[in-house]
Amino acid sequence: MLFRNRFLLLLALAALLAFLSLSLQFFHLIPVSVAKNGGSSKSRKRIMPDPVTEPPGADPVYEALLYCNLPSVAERSMEGHAPHHFKLVSVHVFIRHGDRYPLYVIPKTKRPEIDCTLVANRKPYHPKLEAFVGHMSKGSGASFESPLHSLPLFPNHPLCEMGELTQTGVVQHLQNGQLLRDIYLKKHKLLPSDWSTDQLYLETTGKSRTLQSGLALLYGFLPDFDWKKIYFRHQPSALFCSGNCYCPVRNQYLEKEQRRQYLLRLKNSQLERTYGDMAKIVDVPTKQLRAANPIDSMLCHFCHNVSFPCTRNGCIDMEHFRVIKTHQIEDERDRREKKLYLGYSLLGAHPILNQTIGRMQRAAEGRKEEIFALYSAHDVTLSPVLSALGLMEAKFPRFAARLIFELWQDREQPREHSVRILYNGVDVTFHTSFCQDHHKRSPKPMCPLENLVRFVRRDMFVALGSGSTSYYDACHREGF
Ligand SMILES: *[C@@H]1O[C@H](CO)[C@@H](O)[C@H](O)[C@H]1NC(C)=O
Ligand SMILES: *[C@@H]1O[C@H](CO)[C@@H](O)[C@H](O)[C@H]1NC(C)=O
Repeated sequence: MLFRNRFLLLLALAALLAFLSLSLQFFHLIPVSVAKNGGSSKSRKRIMPDPVTEPPGADPVYEALLYCNLPSVAERSMEGHAPHHFKLVSVHVFIRHGDRYPLYVIPKTKRPEIDCTLVANRKPYHPKLEAFVGHMSKGSGASFESPLHSLPLFPNHPLCEMGELTQTGVVQHLQNGQLLRDIYLKKHKLLPSDWSTDQLYLETTGKSRTLQSGLALLYGFLPDFDWKKIYFRHQPSALFCSGNCYCPVRNQYLEKEQRRQYLLRLKNSQLERTYGDMAKIVDVPTKQLRAANPIDSMLCHFCHNVSFPCTRNGCIDMEHFRVIKTHQIEDERDRREKKLYLGYSLLGAHPILNQTIGRMQRAAEGRKEEIFALYSAHDVTLSPVLSALGLMEAKFPRFAARLIFELWQDREQPREHSVRILYNGVDVTFHTSFCQDHHKRSPKPMCPLENLVRFVRRDMFVALGSGSTSYYDACHREGF
């Protein structure tokens, strides 16, 4: 125990040193001018680090930068990689919405001035941005299930509304769409040029940011699509659990997980001090500040290179940000260890995974419907799916994160179908719990569809360790 503590101390010290040296290299850590009531935005210094070189390990500021997912950072992508004798049969895409304005305000501070209109002369930019706006302006209400038709089809407020998608968010998904177009349409001819309505399956939650993210991706994927051929379904649940949302045991796991989170937070005295310090700056009780989830707003400042807010008592700064972000990383580690979130995830992700294997099986039988599925969703959607699949090391879903299931047919053995799983362009197929050892036994660079089906139909419940063999039983187990 003593050794462990000393080790952690050393680790913390090393992290601090790494951070300090990084700060000097990468950040404009000039003290921010302390003006009355937050000062004018012009006098503020900016805080954006420069992501040219990759700093080592789990540096909280570097992690935050990955989370922002700025479109300027080029990335490699492994989607669509398969031997020549494999034919792409269907693709199932889960996305998190792109960069958005915060959902919360830091009490008694001016909220960040971010413009949510889409304009060509602002970065980040995408060559299809104006065409996207033009096409959205022609959009028809008939293309959306109620209540989606009442939502705006692209962001348009000069001062963003709470939770609104930003230009960065639109560009992120135009890019995602174009990337998928190049691979799945141009290279693998997933859809014919005269594709029809029922070949797509489009579903989104009822927020403008998810609908608009889905539309931006779709526009990148199928530029100038025919509005008459588009139909977006509305999903009321962030778990995409449709008619199977009632699951008492899942809720019990969630309550225990929240308790774990609370206890971990109490143990972190540095975090408590930081919240106390910030509360003093904005002059509200610590409890109220914490309830306002300041990291959400701080991430927006960070991702948009806008300095943190100041009051006449001082400024919220990089050190506050670093402490809260470090705790988030620590919380994720603890979450993996305690496995309560895993229980929640296995039950929470079952309905949408079950739906997805249903779609894959129909496509494997040769049916041509729903061969491209898009679910436009949230971090609280992707995160349980990643956990349930056993992708424990996967990073928390960043803005515009994408998780993709590809279904392939082996032309040399046409009755055999295989899947590939990709997260943000990285092939994670053999990191999933249902295919971990497969590649050691098989020369095929893919996982048999049966593995995924067996996992979703049965092994997910076995993994809960409850002896249940069905979703219904696992959800209604007594005495948990
Ligand atoms: C962030 O703002 C600073 C100060 O205005 C500027 O020097 C820097 O280039 C900006 N960084 C990015 C990535 O825009
Ligand atoms: C799983 O999918 C099948 C159809 O593929 C459906 O009949 C069943 O109700 C689904 N179960 C759950 C729990 O979602």
